[in-house]
Amino acid sequence: MKELQNMYENIRKKTAFQPEAALVLGSGLGNFAETIRIEKTLDYREIDGFPVSTVPGHKGRFIFGYVDDLPVVIMQGRVHYYEGYSMREVTLPIRLMGLMGARVLFLTNASGGVNMGYQAGDFMMIQDHISCMIPSPLIGPNDETLGPRFPDMSDPYDSRLREIIRRTAEAEQIPLKEGVYLQLTGPAYETPAEIRMARAFGADAVGMSTVCEAIAANHMGMKVCGISCITNMASGILPQPLSHSEVQETADRVAPLFERLVRKSLTAIYHEYLHG
Ligand code: HPA
Repeated sequence: MKELQNMYENIRKKTAFQPEAALVLGSGLGNFAETIRIEKTLDYREIDGFPVSTVPGHKGRFIFGYVDDLPVVIMQGRVHYYEGYSMREVTLPIRLMGLMGARVLFLTNASGGVNMGYQAGDFMMIQDHISCMIPSPLIGPNDETLGPRFPDMSDPYDSRLREIIRRTAEAEQIPLKEGVYLQLTGPAYETPAEIRMARAFGADAVGMSTVCEAIAANHMGMKVCGISCITNMASGILPQPLSHSEVQETADRVAPLFERLVRKSLTAIYHEYLHG
C-alpha cells in the first residue's frame, strides 16, 4: 500500500522509536499521555497525507513513550468515518502503528450503553464486536504483505489479553463489565428503534469507532483488546436527549479511574503477555 509505505518512511525520518504496543485514546481519555514518560511527540499534521481529526476534544498526535517499561505509541485523537475519510484512511494510523512494531493494540472509546444493566460511567471491556452498516476497511485490493485476503475473526479481542485486563480490574477493584460493541457510522446519535435493533443483534454498547480499527489490526496479525467508557445510556432508554457535552462530562468524571485501569492493564500486558 503506497500511501502507507510513504507515511511509514516519513515517520521513520522523524523517530526510530520501536513501540511494542499501541494505544488509541478515545473521547475524554486524551490526557492519559500526560502521565507517561514521553520520548517524542509527532503531530499528525507533520506527517504528509495523514488523516487529521476535526472533532472538538480530539487532539491529533502520536506520542511515543513508556508506560513503566513498555514502549508504546499512543494516538491522542483518532479520525472517524463520519468526518468524510474512507475506511482505508481511517485505519491507516492503526496499520502504521503495526508497521512501527506494535504487536498489541489497546483501543478505547466512549460509547452509549445499550444493555439495560449498564449506567453512565461504567467501563465495558470489549468481548466481541458487530460491524453494522459500515464498510470494511479491507475492501479493495489486498496487500498480502500486511495480511490475508480473508482474515480470521474468531478471537477479535484476544482472549488472553482479556483475561489479563479482567484480573487487573479485579486487583484494582475497578468494576468492569464485558460486552459486545457495535459500530454505526454516526455522526447522528441513534434513534430509539436503532437501539432496539442493536440490542436484538446482541450489542451491549454502541459507538462510531473501534470496530474498523480492530478489523484492520486483526488483518495484520496484531493482538487487540479494548475498553469502552459508557458515557451515556443510548437513545430512547432515558427520558432525555443525547448530547456530546454529556458524553464529555461523563468521560471527564471517570477519566482518572479509566486511566488507572488502562495503565495497570498495559503494565500487566507487558509482564504477562509480551514478556511473560
Ligand atoms: N451513540 C453512539 N456513539 C456514542 C454514544 C452513543 O450513545 N455515546 C458516545 N459515543
